Amino acid sequence: MANSYGIDIGTQNLKIYGGNSQLTNIKNTIAIVNKNQMYSYGDAAYSMFEKAPDTIEVSFPIVSGVIADFDNMQTMLFEVIEKNLKGKVKGSDIVVAVPTDITEVEKKAFSDLFSKSKTKPHSVRVCEKPIACAIGMGLDVSEPTGVMIVDLGADTTEISVISLGGLVLSELLPFGGNQIDESIVTHLKRNYNLVIGQKTAMQLKEQIGSALKGRGESLTVVGRDVVSGLPIEMEIASDVIYEAIKTDLESFCTNIKLILEKVPPELAKDIVHSGIYLAGGTSQLHEIATLFTEVTNIKVNECENPEESCARGLGAVLNDSKYKKYGYSLRTRIFK
Ligand SMILES: Nc1ncnc2c1ncn2[C@@H]1O[C@H](COP(=O)(O)OP(=O)(O)OP(=O)(O)O)[C@@H](O)[C@H]1O
Ligand SMILES: [Mg+2]
Repeated sequence: MANSYGIDIGTQNLKIYGGNSQLTNIKNTIAIVNKNQMYSYGDAAYSMFEKAPDTIEVSFPIVSGVIADFDNMQTMLFEVIEKNLKGKVKGSDIVVAVPTDITEVEKKAFSDLFSKSKTKPHSVRVCEKPIACAIGMGLDVSEPTGVMIVDLGADTTEISVISLGGLVLSELLPFGGNQIDESIVTHLKRNYNLVIGQKTAMQLKEQIGSALKGRGESLTVVGRDVVSGLPIEMEIASDVIYEAIKTDLESFCTNIKLILEKVPPELAKDIVHSGIYLAGGTSQLHEIATLFTEVTNIKVNECENPEESCARGLGAVLNDSKYKKYGYSLRTRIFK
């Protein structure tokens, strides 16, 4: 369908599957001036993060997986679809991904971004994120086989078990890649007297970070020396980053094990057989799959472009009759 959009609104990245099979992935960031006026959005706003003067406020409209700034999120979505993608919201078919483990009111807010807008789409449906991720990874979710999906995002980690197209278990944890970045910032400040920004921390994590000790690489970064207060260049080794993020990695492992303990035995058998599936940008952390295999004794499957698996799945919900049923509308319930 040409005029249809599958939308995964992440804490850090907004992924839109457009009608022409194109996937757009931009930073989910807005820059605001005069308290509430949008100055810029997307990658342009993100480039101002940690650099903008006091008059410009750079913020992220999604916090811990739920909408924190409804009005600006709505404005940004319309701008992206109509200006960046040259599309039209009016008369379009929309499917928005929602985390499973949030309240109905929070879920409805995702659908309201479109259904409560001045310009009305033809239809607005929601789809549970873990189901969209599984479809996007090419798994047949309608089978009576248990599948475990771990979506490692920026501000959230969603661990779910699916069988027969339904969610057997799903837990949304309030931490992800952002918390790893923060741990790097804190560790370097405390142990090396080096103050760096969150973007540099992210660079260190993505380029030389590892879920296992001994990667043996290094990266030179510029920060501020706590003692002299002056800018300083420092070479950081992979193992320093590993030390910084070790506790976060342990939390991921503990939570995956906790969910595995709750899985009914027949489904656990399926998971052991087919393995755990990883989605989300943080699943690209070097050796994270090996770590999860070590602690669970279960094979871990990775996919290409894991940040985009959810949006790819939404594309299938829009265009493939087999998956259409996984998008459903959240109508306002009237209590009499
Ligand atoms: N190579 C890499 N190594 C480690 N982390 C990475 C890598 N590439 C991207 N990331 C991280 O992936 C995260 C973004 O992933 P993703 O787009 O799935 O998150 P999101 O959907 O915006 O967040 P959420 O699902 O929590 O709302 C960021 O924290 C980013 O630093
Ligand atoms: Mg996400």
